[in-house]
Amino acid sequence: MSIDQPLVLGIETSCDETGVGIVRGRELLSNALASSVELHARFGGVVPEVASRAHLEAMLPTIELACSQAGVSLSDIDAIAVTAGPGLVGALIVGVASAKALALGLGKPIYGVNHLAAHVMVDELEHGPLPEPVIGLLVSGGHSSLIKVSNGDFTSLGQTLDDAAGEAFDKVARLLGLPFPGGPMIDQAAQNGNSNAINFPRALRADPAHAFNFSFSGLKTAVARWVKEQQRLGNAISVPDVAASVQEAIADILTSKAIAAAVDQNAPHLVIAGGVAANSRLRALAAERCAVAGIELRIPSPTLCTDNGAMVAALGSHLFRVGAAPSPVDFPATSTLSVNEVLF
Ligand code: KG4
Ligand code: ZN
Repeated sequence: MSIDQPLVLGIETSCDETGVGIVRGRELLSNALASSVELHARFGGVVPEVASRAHLEAMLPTIELACSQAGVSLSDIDAIAVTAGPGLVGALIVGVASAKALALGLGKPIYGVNHLAAHVMVDELEHGPLPEPVIGLLVSGGHSSLIKVSNGDFTSLGQTLDDAAGEAFDKVARLLGLPFPGGPMIDQAAQNGNSNAINFPRALRADPAHAFNFSFSGLKTAVARWVKEQQRLGNAISVPDVAASVQEAIADILTSKAIAAAVDQNAPHLVIAGGVAANSRLRALAAERCAVAGIELRIPSPTLCTDNGAMVAALGSHLFRVGAAPSPVDFPATSTLSVNEVLF
């Protein structure tokens, strides 16, 4: 075992993906994933109890797959990391209990870590050590947050007051009759649409009390109203135009607030992560605006942006290397963990 290059296995079960990843230092060795998204599709969203049961079934095969893909055996592992929160509590419990059993069985340290911090830290696997201070924009079906990482500390600058950005994509897609998860569908439909066709609201754009907070529930209502009005008038609805206009509104508000945060905090680096970071317009607009503002933009590959085990392993590896004390064996799964609690 090397302290500089620990072999860390990370387990992620906060939502509907059972992820097990293995890293050596900052090198990604494997990232096995079992998703229950198809089980939830007919409900139009994630059903917590269904997700928990799916995690239970997928856990052992996913651990085995991660080890075989990495070419390591469990006895080689130096430490276990697991998402302790935030997330769906029943789903988190499956990961936390499995990780504790592994750590106790192998006699290895365990790190119960924060899911949001892991989303930022995964970028190290592709782009090297995180520069500090850095701003993290986390946008997924469950969260929309702006985070600052400085001197190893994670601080929340702001978050959504209601729906997450991915939730907004999913709800608008549903209104348009597109299947769940709706984000990729909107992205695809928008390719043939006009993003200036409809001027949907950019909530909290000029509210100094909420400079780094977001609100997306009004956007869904605005789209519903617009669709109803067109139907009342007997106008044909162009799904590509609505998709492109909604996508523009979301990408615009996310990038303008993230860049404002980077300027305000004197942090010339921005990492975007979470499932919505796969959005093509968000990526393009962020690149354009960061270039103008002189901010370095880092976006992990889509498979590392969505929930996965490698991000948890990356944060565990970081904590191991800086000599953080492992978590006590009785740490809980905490659905509402705040981002400044990186480690239990
Ligand atoms: O990070 P993630 O896989 O799971 C959590 O929610 O934690 O994110 C899933 C979210 C869904 O809301 C999905 O619609 C959205 O990410 N998403 C996208 C795109 N790909 C996934 N949203 C917009 N454009 C995309 N290309
Ligand atoms: Zn996530």
